[in-house]
Amino acid sequence: MTSSDVWDAEAAASYDESSAFMFAPEVLDPAVDFLGALAGGGPALELAVGTGRVAIPLADRGMRVSGIELSQPMADQLLAKRPGFDVVVGDMATARVPGEFGLVYVVWNSIGNLRTQAEQVACFANAARHLAPGGRFVVELGVPGIRRFPPGQSAVPFHVGRRHVGFDTYDLTTQQGTSHHYRRHDDGTVTYGQSNFRYIWPAECDLMAQLAGMSLERRVADWHGAPFTSDSDSHVSVWRRPA
Ligand SMILES: C[S@@+](CC[C@H](N)C(=O)[O-])C[C@H]1O[C@@H](n2cnc3c(N)ncnc32)[C@H](O)[C@@H]1O
Repeated sequence: MTSSDVWDAEAAASYDESSAFMFAPEVLDPAVDFLGALAGGGPALELAVGTGRVAIPLADRGMRVSGIELSQPMADQLLAKRPGFDVVVGDMATARVPGEFGLVYVVWNSIGNLRTQAEQVACFANAARHLAPGGRFVVELGVPGIRRFPPGQSAVPFHVGRRHVGFDTYDLTTQQGTSHHYRRHDDGTVTYGQSNFRYIWPAECDLMAQLAGMSLERRVADWHGAPFTSDSDSHVSVWRRPA
C-alpha cells in the first residue's frame, strides 16, 4: 500500500496542458540531453513516468525507455501518445520491470510523492535493483524551502498570478509538505487543489543511496550543470552502482 496520492483521470487529462511550461524546449531539452548523455544508448527506466514528458523525447533519440507509473490514467495518457510504450502500472518503491538498465531516473520532484522515509529508502533500493553494474540513478529534486520561512510564518508562496496562486506549507516535525493551488477559471470560478509530499535533504538522499549500495558521482544545481551551492533551490544528483 503506497502513501502517494493517486492521480485521477481528470488530473491526467489536463496534465500536459497544465504543465505546458515544463514541456517548453528550454526546460525539457537540457534534461533530455543530460539523461541521454548518461544513458549511453540505454536502456533507461523512468520512475513516475507520468504521461512521458521526458521518456518520449528520450526514446525518440533511439533509446529503449521503460517506465513505472502509479496512476493508470496517467499511464493511459502516455499510451495514447505512444502506443506500446513499456510502462508498468505500480509503485516506484516496489514495482519491478524486467531487464537491467544503464540508467534509472526520477525527475521533477516526483520521489517526494512517496510520503514516508521507509518508502523513499525502498525506492532507492528499487532503483539500484534495476541497475546494471556501473549503472546510474539520477534524481531531480528541490531543496526544501525552509530558509524562505520568516520566523512565525508557515506558508510560502511559489507563484502569485492573475489565474493561479500557489503556496507551500511545511510541517517541520514530520518533513511533510503540501502545495496548495488556487486556480481562477474563465467563468470566474475558483477551484482549489493540493498535492502532498515528503521533502528530503540532499544529504538524506546520499544516505538512502548508500543504503542501496550506490555512491554519489555528481551533484549539480540543474540540468545545465550549474554548480550546486548553499543557495541552490534544486539539485540533480547522480549516484552510481559499483561496476
Ligand atoms: C509531477 S508528475 C511527473 C511525471 C513525469 N515524470 C514528468 O516529469 O512529467 C508526478 C508523477 O508521479 C506519479 N507517482 C506518484 N506517486 C507514485 C508512486 N508511488 N509510484 C509511481 N509513480 C508515482 C504520479 O502519478 C505522476 O504521474
